[in-house]
Amino acid sequence: MTDDGTRTLVVVGQGYVGLPLAMRAAQLGFRVIGFDTSADRVRELRAGRSYVGDVSDVELAAALGAGFVPTDDPADLAGFDVAVISVPTPLRDRMPDLSAVEQAASTLGPHLREGAMVVLESTTYPGTTEELVAPILDAASGLVAGESYHLGYSPERIDPGNRQHTLINTPKVVAGINAASLKEVQAFYDCIVEQTVPVATLAEAEMTKLLENTFRHVNIALVNEMAMFARQLGVDIWRVIDAASTKPFGFMKFTPGPGVGGHCLPVDPSYLSWRVEQHLGRKFEFVELANDINEGMPLHVFERVGALLNEQRKPLNGSRVLLLGLAYKAATSDWRESPTVPLAALLSAAKAEVVVCDPHVAPVTVQSLPYELVPFGADELSRADIVVVMVDHPSFDPDVVAAAARLVFDAKGLLRDRDFTGEVL
Ligand SMILES: NC(=O)c1ccc[n+]([C@@H]2O[C@H](COP(=O)([O-])OP(=O)(O)OC[C@H]3O[C@@H](n4cnc5c(N)ncnc54)[C@H](O)[C@@H]3O)[C@@H](O)[C@H]2O)c1
Repeated sequence: MTDDGTRTLVVVGQGYVGLPLAMRAAQLGFRVIGFDTSADRVRELRAGRSYVGDVSDVELAAALGAGFVPTDDPADLAGFDVAVISVPTPLRDRMPDLSAVEQAASTLGPHLREGAMVVLESTTYPGTTEELVAPILDAASGLVAGESYHLGYSPERIDPGNRQHTLINTPKVVAGINAASLKEVQAFYDCIVEQTVPVATLAEAEMTKLLENTFRHVNIALVNEMAMFARQLGVDIWRVIDAASTKPFGFMKFTPGPGVGGHCLPVDPSYLSWRVEQHLGRKFEFVELANDINEGMPLHVFERVGALLNEQRKPLNGSRVLLLGLAYKAATSDWRESPTVPLAALLSAAKAEVVVCDPHVAPVTVQSLPYELVPFGADELSRADIVVVMVDHPSFDPDVVAAAARLVFDAKGLLRDRDFTGEVL
């Protein structure tokens, strides 16, 4: 705490999760240190340029004006009151890679003081906070979690691009290593969000997030598998889903698509299945099956595109294929694990000429991809032998696509109610 009573919040990891939290806390009067190991990201933030769609440059400028400090220097972490860890938790060789969480805890540990608090927000398997984070913090600080400092876990539910459900109005699950820590963790998030939901243990909070994402993953796989055979049965799956969605209880709407992407669905359920296998020697079969189906969707789209071109007496070899959408979902710039990438690779291997259109993704971030990025418009749509709708961005006007494209494979149902030449998934 500073002399004037201002509390210092450190947010470790300034990404899709950490940056919005840092902005919110700066608005509320916290002294916020945004720590990130990426010097590029820190430079962008200091220059007032936000790379996260949900944070505008105006909001960032206001936070900087209020004292927000983006930094990659661990010395700036000294004297924090609260530290939130929101670093990536990816898979490596299909196994959890918690190296960023370990590194974050090692960086925070030497600056941890008595009475301060550390909360992990990164998505991870049940047991991580207590078994992995606490020992690192204890060893680096000489303190004891739950006794001399508070330790908690609170899963982030941020949904990039969602204007209705935001960080502030989405209830936030909170947990502590003991009752005293839970009280502190809840009090902190009660300042940040409108509603907190306390649960009894850290592992319950960790597993809550994995249940939420596994639920989505499995249900998307269910409609994807149904979409594939409904077509062969001569049934329109989209109309079936619309009809089922009129049931006011016991049903939740999910729609088919070309595969799942982002940091969450292709990754998080495997954290849980890994833990189950490690500890119980059993397979989490729902997750295995959902992975198989969802990971197989780009291949299914590839086959359907080839079949459509074939009907027009065109081979994939030499055909110009325009993929509409690189981001993994509508209204976001995030293209991590995007199904467009494996589809583009399959098409290129078949010697198609692949071009990609995504107005949400900054060209500079996709320099590693060997595909030309083209603007959205009738010119490019009509130039392609086939257009594949991969994402239903609001900027992809379905009337323009339907009118200009010569042939379309629509993997998102964007053109369902339009007249066009082609097919919907
Ligand atoms: N993106 C989402 O929609 C979302 C939603 C809910 C939960 N989550 C979870 O939140 C966590 C963070 O996800 P994200 O999407 O914000 O990731 P991100 O990649 O957008 O941001 C993470 C940031 O952490 C930085 N970083 C990596 N190692 C670091 C370290 N040791 N110290 C400091 N900074 C470090 C990276 O440079 C990056 O800027 C993940 O566990 C993810 O599963 C993400």
